[in-house]
Amino acid sequence: MRNFVNEVNTLKTTVIEGHVFDGKHLDALGRLLVQTTLRRYFWFDAIATELLEKPLPRKHRDLHLLIMIGLCAIETLNQPQHTSVNAAVETAKRLNKRWASSLTNATLRRYLRDREKIQNRVIDPVAVHNHPAWILDHLRADFPQESSAVILANNYPGPLSLRVNRLKQSRSAYLDRLKTAGLNAELSNLSPQGLYFENPVPISRLPGFQDGAVSIQDEGAQLAALLLDPQPGERILDACSAPGGKSCHLLELEPTIILTSTDIDPDRLEQVRDNFDRLGVNGEISCLDLGLDQPQLGTFDKILLDVPCSASGVIRRHPDIKLLRRATDLEGLIKKQGQFLTSVWDRLRPGGILLYATCSIFSDENEGVVSQFLQTREDAAILPLPEVGVPRAFGVQLLPTQNAHDGFYYALLIKASTGS
Ligand SMILES: C[S@@+](CC[C@H](N)C(=O)[O-])C[C@H]1O[C@@H](n2cnc3c(N)ncnc32)[C@H](O)[C@@H]1O
Repeated sequence: MRNFVNEVNTLKTTVIEGHVFDGKHLDALGRLLVQTTLRRYFWFDAIATELLEKPLPRKHRDLHLLIMIGLCAIETLNQPQHTSVNAAVETAKRLNKRWASSLTNATLRRYLRDREKIQNRVIDPVAVHNHPAWILDHLRADFPQESSAVILANNYPGPLSLRVNRLKQSRSAYLDRLKTAGLNAELSNLSPQGLYFENPVPISRLPGFQDGAVSIQDEGAQLAALLLDPQPGERILDACSAPGGKSCHLLELEPTIILTSTDIDPDRLEQVRDNFDRLGVNGEISCLDLGLDQPQLGTFDKILLDVPCSASGVIRRHPDIKLLRRATDLEGLIKKQGQFLTSVWDRLRPGGILLYATCSIFSDENEGVVSQFLQTREDAAILPLPEVGVPRAFGVQLLPTQNAHDGFYYALLIKASTGS
């Protein structure tokens, strides 16, 4: 009989030990179950608390997580509900807590009996909206009109989005390959290389993936390379490049650019190399710390600065962010973003262009950083961008949208030419 031991242990690693969700030890169903439990964490946590009446002692926190996994299985798996209850009961035994099997059984069966009554008792906005209070507060302050739609979008998985490698074939040619393979994709409105599927498709079913025909990349992320608009022979720095999605897109758009991809993380840079190899593109890769001055890099015509951020725009793809990020992280991130911007600005030639990018939807990390920079640098000016997303004082903001893109921010800056 199926049990949820691996799922409980994986959930424990994130919820109790504070590690990023890693589903590689789970099968597809287990990954779905843990990711969905994380996505609806605050709701299932509140329901489990209602059901248990008296909180379990700290040392039995795994049983609380087991009840949450059981609730998630009941609500989302396409199997009889008693099968999910039985799997949870079996798990209690295998966790060496045989005594808890009757508690698990009684708790989940009570949920099946009194589901509506128990759900109606949960009224805490954190549980109902499935986001921690500090994220709800930020969203409502920054986007009073759009926050409800963003919260809703964050609570569902995003579509699977592809970037067609135009060095290998056109988007319409790849669409035909998909059709031949029995797959129907939609055209992205944001990116001429973008396609997306409303329902998940395993990568193994994507024709030519291993040969570099296509990559997985959100259509909002594809805007970065498009906005930077690489031209033949330009020297371009992708300053926070790993795992390399945007570097690869730049090279696919214009293979004659001289690209330098840098990052502080050597393991993630390995992924950049693997992606270059798979897609048949090439650039220089260099491991360095942007917190330090890097004059040996020389100067560039264009720079992409995709800074480390709260990742609040990609919560639906990484629901563990809701648990792992803290409001107190923001101050350090904003400081770092400003430092990186100042540091790479020296690497831009006079007249050169820099794209500042985040996958955040908090204005403090976005136009806050850019406006602060513009106030202190006389040689920096903002350039207009196409009208996408939500208008902001500086730059453009995409908000996560159901069945479309994730949340990204972009601002395009130009450095004054010498003498101007
Ligand atoms: C948002 S991610 C970049 C994603 C990448 N542009 C892409 O599209 O695949 C931010 C990157 O900044 C890197 N980073 C963090 N601190 C850094 C530092 N001090 N110097 C250089 N890179 C840093 C992280 O390792 C991470 O890969």
